[in-house]
Amino acid sequence: MGSIDTPTITENGTTQSHTAAAAADGDQKPLASSNGAPAEMTLELEATKKRRASMLPLEVGTRVMCRWRDGKYHPVKVIERRKVHYGGPNDYEYYVHYTEFNRRLDEWVKLEQLDLDSVETVVDEKVEDKVTSLKMTRHQKRKIDETHVEVGHEELDAASLREHEEFTKVKNIATIELGRYEIETWYFSPFPPEYNDSLKLYFCEFCLNFMKRKEQLQRHMRKCDLKHPPGDEIYRSGTLSMFEVDGKKNKVYGQNLCYLAKLFLDHKTLYYDVDLFLFYVLCECDDRGCHMVGYFSKEKHSEESYNLACILTLPPYQRKGYGKFLIAFSYELSKKEGKVGTPERPLSDLGLLSYRGYWTRVLLDILKKHKGNISIKELSDMTAIKAEDILTTLQSLELIQYRKGQHVICADPKVLDRHLKAAGRGGLEVDVSKLIWTPYKEQS
Ligand code: ACO
Ligand code: ZN
Repeated sequence: MGSIDTPTITENGTTQSHTAAAAADGDQKPLASSNGAPAEMTLELEATKKRRASMLPLEVGTRVMCRWRDGKYHPVKVIERRKVHYGGPNDYEYYVHYTEFNRRLDEWVKLEQLDLDSVETVVDEKVEDKVTSLKMTRHQKRKIDETHVEVGHEELDAASLREHEEFTKVKNIATIELGRYEIETWYFSPFPPEYNDSLKLYFCEFCLNFMKRKEQLQRHMRKCDLKHPPGDEIYRSGTLSMFEVDGKKNKVYGQNLCYLAKLFLDHKTLYYDVDLFLFYVLCECDDRGCHMVGYFSKEKHSEESYNLACILTLPPYQRKGYGKFLIAFSYELSKKEGKVGTPERPLSDLGLLSYRGYWTRVLLDILKKHKGNISIKELSDMTAIKAEDILTTLQSLELIQYRKGQHVICADPKVLDRHLKAAGRGGLEVDVSKLIWTPYKEQS
């Protein structure tokens, strides 16, 4: 399966028209005949230069084409700008959002990366919003709001989405050091104000304390006596271990983990009240200690039957099956509790892909082996997957028919095989015999 971050540009896409426009520009013949050309060309060049200079600095909100890391131009919106140190009055860098891609690819770019010929007239969006709202019927408005909500943000209404994006618009920390990795961050995370002037943070990979300078980390590592997350080791199989950390007993660790995780999670509220959560931290262990690979959090009591609040695989470990392991683990805990569970919403784009892949594989494996009819309730009892998630998964695979007021699962073995193939790899297996755990009970 290809990477979700790879830009896909259709033949008729904006980039295409940009290329066409650029080519047309390049093909333009000088207006003057050969004898008068140099002077007129200089004039024209001067005019272009002047026109470009008059646009600068670009306003926040400007839409323009920008050269990305693939060397191609993509449409962006200017989110923020900042003066270049020791530059002229119009020397700015721009923080841009690639409108075709997820916000994790937002970045600071230099003016040279922007194609000023493609600048679209700046529109004051607030005014535009007001005008459009007035003119539209409520139905039309709802339709627009719905289509403007990005994948994975389905449960956020347009107003909350805008508010969220305004508050978190610019990534504050660009990179972190954690164990043997230096990792580029994806999103804004609300670190305490004294960290606002640091582009890079240094994390202790065991207690997750973070520092502004490498020397501080080195000093800390000499003193820190943790070699694994605090809490109980509830699973060990080969080099993989899972630790259960109670947010109430390990408040600082819980908060540090949330700050760290938010750098890779967009639409998740940061819970300062970590007391209410358990954190399941997955580690790869060797003779130097247990190195965090990823985690998920879980409310101690969930009214909505959530069995997972946030899930993260750290970028260096992604796409190796750890995400599906964490998901499978969350359902194993639900089975031990004798409950069905579902992840907290909204799901991110990558979260949705991982869950869809997991649900498809688990359900189709059962359908393939099962002889005779099986109901959604039975599937739910066997897997601890909430009935609604089973229904949407099977519906999206077109395996459900509605007959005589009832949902019926239609499972042709050939169709099942085809879907299973498309569902990607199975992920790392959870060996349930290695899980030693009792559900959380409040201690009085
Ligand atoms: N491009 C395309 N597909 C992807 C990508 C990607 N970059 N990453 C994951 N997937 C899909 C694939 O289908 C993949 O299966 P495959 O490799 O067999 O094709 C599947 O998701 C999961 O792959 P895993 O290796 O098991 O999962 P991973 O360890 O990469 O973790 C996770 C998935 C946790 C979602 C990770 O991408 C992540 O941490 N993302 C950032 C945080 C986030 O978005 N978390 C979910 C928020 S929703 C919530 O918390 C309830
Ligand atoms: Zn430490």
